[in-house]
Amino acid sequence: MTGVVWNTNEDEKKHRHTLRRTRTSSRSLSLREARTMAGFDDALKSTRAKLSEPGKGILAADESTGTIGKRFQSIGVENVEANRRFWRETLFTAKDVEKYISGVILFEETLYAKSEDGTGTLTEILRKKDIVPGIKVDKGATIPVGKDGDGETDTDGMDGLGERCATFYKAGARFAKWRAVLKIDVEKALPSADAVEANAKSLAKYAKICQENGLVPIVEPEIVPDGKHDVEVSKTVTKNVLTKVFEHLNKENVNLELMVLKPNMVTPGSGNEESEKDDLKVAEYTNEVLLACVPEAVPAILFLSGGQSEDAASRRLNLMHKMQKESDKTFPWTLSYSYGRALQASALKAWSGDNSNAGKGQEAFIEKAKSCSLASLGEL
Ligand code: 13P
Repeated sequence: MTGVVWNTNEDEKKHRHTLRRTRTSSRSLSLREARTMAGFDDALKSTRAKLSEPGKGILAADESTGTIGKRFQSIGVENVEANRRFWRETLFTAKDVEKYISGVILFEETLYAKSEDGTGTLTEILRKKDIVPGIKVDKGATIPVGKDGDGETDTDGMDGLGERCATFYKAGARFAKWRAVLKIDVEKALPSADAVEANAKSLAKYAKICQENGLVPIVEPEIVPDGKHDVEVSKTVTKNVLTKVFEHLNKENVNLELMVLKPNMVTPGSGNEESEKDDLKVAEYTNEVLLACVPEAVPAILFLSGGQSEDAASRRLNLMHKMQKESDKTFPWTLSYSYGRALQASALKAWSGDNSNAGKGQEAFIEKAKSCSLASLGEL
């Protein structure tokens, strides 16, 4: 195994320096940056406060049309706008949703979608419940990087991003998401240094543009779980990717106090026989990596579920908190969830496209949201 991603003593030294430097505040802003951000200061701070409320997390309901099509296919539901809107409104109107959900990430179509009764938009439904609407601003991981044939990508969506952020802000969005995708292949030493570098740069550039336009950026470097690799490999790669991401966030002068990190947990590959087991190691390694890589200035770390079962995603989050409490320490950031599948899988099955079962779908969703909320406090 060679390359920056796999062998990073030097990177780590640099990062430890950065981590100390950014423990309490990010570096000073230029006059132009300070003026732009000042216009949105209250909005950014209020969003930051909401998204880092203890005991709450984010619902990721921003599946692209293609991705939600796959989820619908598994329950025999046609992938048309009416069904997508119905399903999302079902989730947003579930009783007590605001007790467990602080924000919802929307796909652009949903940001403007009208409610079933035609009296308002889904965005307004969320705002009335004091749930912050967010928006997926990336256009998918489609730009080839690294060696031909390795299938590595950078994420698309930088063109006109500032204008789009400004439009989304006007439509009521207060935070954004950009998903970078990295994959592990031990034989090929992937992710390559090029892919890690390109994605870290894009995440930082995106985050800066969001902050200049009043949106709190969710920075999501997802190392997808595909593969048979063990948890040790996942730990090395996650640590190196996060180190690079924070290096670029600092270079780009992103205000770390006004962003959210959305990482993967450190898990074995989904093709590894341990993938659903070994919770102790997953929790221990994830805590170790996050404490080593994420500056205290970051207000919240909200995990993606990345194809873990609903139970594993909440069990492991719970364990991370229990371990930290047992060591008599507290995390410097809110550590919680921003789940898509791990909040919706049972609910989708309960609904199964029969709208008379929408209530059952809501009950299943709230049951999962409640256990995630307890897990995020170490009280499951
Ligand atoms: P999962 O929790 O289903 O991984 O989705 C979260 C997400 O937003 C991925 O970008």
